[in-house]
Amino acid sequence: MSRLVVVSNRVPVPTEKRPPQGGLAVAVLSALETRGGLWFGWNGKIAEDKSVVRTRYGNVEFATTALSRRDYDDYYRGFSNRVMWPLLHARLERMDYRRSYENGYRRVNQYLASALVPLLRPDDTIWIHDYHLIPLGLELRRAGCRQRIGFFLHTPFPPSDVFRALPHYRSLLMEFGAYDLVGLQTDVDLRGFINSVHYGVPGAKVSMKSVQIGSAPTGVAVFPISIDVDDVAATAAKGRKSSSGRRLLASLSGSDLVMGVDRLDYTKGLVPRFRAFERLLETRPAVRRKVVCLQIAQPSRGDVPGYQQMRRALDAAAGEINGRFAEYDWVPLRYLHKGFSHATILGFLSLARVGLVTPLRDGMNLVAKEFVAAQRPEDPGVLVLSELAGAARELDAAIIVNPYDLDDVADGLAKAIDMPVEERRRRWSAMMKVLRRNDIHRWRRRFLEALEDTRASRIQTLAPSATVGALANVAGPGRQP
Ligand code: F6P
Repeated sequence: MSRLVVVSNRVPVPTEKRPPQGGLAVAVLSALETRGGLWFGWNGKIAEDKSVVRTRYGNVEFATTALSRRDYDDYYRGFSNRVMWPLLHARLERMDYRRSYENGYRRVNQYLASALVPLLRPDDTIWIHDYHLIPLGLELRRAGCRQRIGFFLHTPFPPSDVFRALPHYRSLLMEFGAYDLVGLQTDVDLRGFINSVHYGVPGAKVSMKSVQIGSAPTGVAVFPISIDVDDVAATAAKGRKSSSGRRLLASLSGSDLVMGVDRLDYTKGLVPRFRAFERLLETRPAVRRKVVCLQIAQPSRGDVPGYQQMRRALDAAAGEINGRFAEYDWVPLRYLHKGFSHATILGFLSLARVGLVTPLRDGMNLVAKEFVAAQRPEDPGVLVLSELAGAARELDAAIIVNPYDLDDVADGLAKAIDMPVEERRRRWSAMMKVLRRNDIHRWRRRFLEALEDTRASRIQTLAPSATVGALANVAGPGRQP
């Protein structure tokens, strides 16, 4: 089996004391551990010395580099977070495009390619993750890489007329042509991508299985990311019995726990979520004192302007709701702006009667899946899930709500709180079946097998001597703004 090389923007190098945290990190590490390999990307630090540092954790090697202040500002804080993130989540009012950001995005992708090439072996399988790194495949082809290269987008892909709002969108779309395979989270994202190529790239041939931008087709398919179900269940069971789990349980004094966990991000719909909880308290006085809502909002991208403003809005909403409804011996909303270990969060989720996952738009949302896997089979909690999260395409036995309709979310919450145990078990079993069918291991296997297959057919399309040139030629002129 060939070596797997994973590239993602942020590489959270784990240590014995600090195991990997969070959806993408846990999923990618589990893929690497299964077959051994290399994980390459940014170490999360800002420094002028960008030399590559190599370390090991089990059978996985990490190669990381810092970003200079200018690169961090233009590529990460600028293009990735102020252009691509809002664009892909269809939040054009939040998009703040600048040419310097786009130049920085291309500069860093070129640099990452040049730093990665010396670490590669001819038979490696390269798997590139997320919107920070779309041009990386083409940069690697230009540097002569003939390896299999796949790309997976963790975020949504918007409809084509939204994507067209991105200046130079055509160049970015053409860069996808350097990949052997492009993976998306849901069929909705797949259609957005295919339509964007169809309407945006003159002469491109598209089908539901491939897009042909240059001389060879790029496979496209849906691979909904998932979780390690048994591992989540075991960690949650331990977390429930840990001292933090026991303290949380004791503090509830018999109230039902409604829980949300998210990065503090405007796509997660936290202010509307608070308002929906307020609507519940307002319209159903009998629920007061019987429920406590715990929202953990993990600090994220705090130096990106929209995030600071959103934090203030959330502080204000939480203060208002508690000011309005709290009593001297009961506080309805516990809002924590801080991070916890993955194990602690899973333990907390396993204690919740209701998992409240209401993003305004989300690629998948692994918290929804973790909430389900963390439940106790005999007395499971209920998932209230936004229909705009990718996870809703699979977890249709949740209570599906529209996060823009506060009454709908409040009704969903009331239904979840009142739901009899038989119905809770039925819904939970249906969702567990889905999770067991498509767990993190299957996600990885399916992607890598499809990459192998599409690479083989792509090579057949091209004359062997023309391969590198043809693959590198897909974006043509005009790649710089
Ligand atoms: O899932 C989207 C994503 O941008 C991942 O690529 C990333 O690991 C995570 O969110 C956290 O974001 P950031 O690296 O910007 O803190």
